[in-house]
Amino acid sequence: MNFKKDFPIFKNNPDLIFLDSTASSQKPAYVIDSIKDFLENSYANIHRGMYDISIEAERLYDESKKIIAKYLNVDDFREVIYTFNTTYAVNLLALTLKKNNFFKKGDKILLSITEHHANIVPWLMLKQELGIEIDFVNITENFDLDFDDFEKKYDSKVKLISLTQVSNVTGQIFDLEKIGKAKREDTIFVVDASQSIPHFSVDVKKLNCDFLFFTGHKILADSGIGILWGKKEYLEKFTPAISGGGAIGEVTCSSYTDAKLPNKFEAGTPNMTGAVSLLRAFEYIESIGGFEKIEEIEKPLIEYFLERLKELKNVKLIGSNSSENRVGVFSLVFEGIHSHDVAETLAEHNIAVRSGKHCAHPFYSLVGEGNSVRVSFYIYNTKEDIDKFFEVAKNI
Ligand SMILES: Cc1ncc(COP(=O)(O)O)c(C=O)c1O
Repeated sequence: MNFKKDFPIFKNNPDLIFLDSTASSQKPAYVIDSIKDFLENSYANIHRGMYDISIEAERLYDESKKIIAKYLNVDDFREVIYTFNTTYAVNLLALTLKKNNFFKKGDKILLSITEHHANIVPWLMLKQELGIEIDFVNITENFDLDFDDFEKKYDSKVKLISLTQVSNVTGQIFDLEKIGKAKREDTIFVVDASQSIPHFSVDVKKLNCDFLFFTGHKILADSGIGILWGKKEYLEKFTPAISGGGAIGEVTCSSYTDAKLPNKFEAGTPNMTGAVSLLRAFEYIESIGGFEKIEEIEKPLIEYFLERLKELKNVKLIGSNSSENRVGVFSLVFEGIHSHDVAETLAEHNIAVRSGKHCAHPFYSLVGEGNSVRVSFYIYNTKEDIDKFFEVAKNI
């Protein structure tokens, strides 16, 4: 079960130990070739091209949304909006809620203390502009979402809850179905699936969420494509905060009308190549046995890494040391050594990791750490990669 051969980056960089997939995954040849194929054979702007290659480009664009809808358990693919990444998706949603006067002064947004900045800053911007409040749900000693704290903070002022399903620092999986069950009708529940969808099956119906976003580059597709899924009742009701060509029905010199879904939320020429890469990324996952297979590949790697971690005496793990309810993301603090120095030493041995606060400053303040080295796996990693990491890490 070695998937490395499917990923040309490893053939072209035979010594590379890539342990940075939480930042961006590598791409299989199937995805890379599909981009070239699309650009060579059917690239053209979509919407209203009456000629063959434009029709084909639009078909592929829609196919990519259909496969995403299938995997997210969404009934209508027109609820899938393409953005450029997760960050853009959150901003589009936040600005759209503002434009539609969804919040009034004194309303509250609930986030978790582990959120990535992408799911904090757009809401902080609204706070500054609208006078709303933001509160953060704590985590437990085991780095899990503190449901008691959630219940305490989920008062009648809360109009929106936006939570990550997996922490990009600890790799902890949060039981957001529990939040979905607890949420009231007057609250919009938003899920950041950026770090969950690469690793396991995500189902919007089970989550009982209203919006969900993720980013293509972490799940084998190209960068520059992101997904905002929303329930039709909201997408139809809301006027988008951003508009222009492709997103309108009629325009006069003094007014305009919105296009129908999903176009009204996709102003301007979209990332068609990115959409094709996403289609092929999900097809690739399907071809290797789906998300069940991904979990099957990753679980032993997680167990092995945690076992070997016991050998590093001067290293602290920010996160749970259980292999349950987690993905293969490990943030490590090497006592007395800055994470940049550790990452540089690892890089000298061709081991790619990430160093810093991983766009989660509030979480680092909570745990009282300045920085960490983040090691993360995906389907192409092997026990040998982990061994090479420990060989070098032991001597740092
Ligand atoms: C949990 C989480 N949310 C959002 C993002 C932002 O993704 P992007 O930079 O593609 O917008 C990341 C990226 O690391 C992430 O880990």
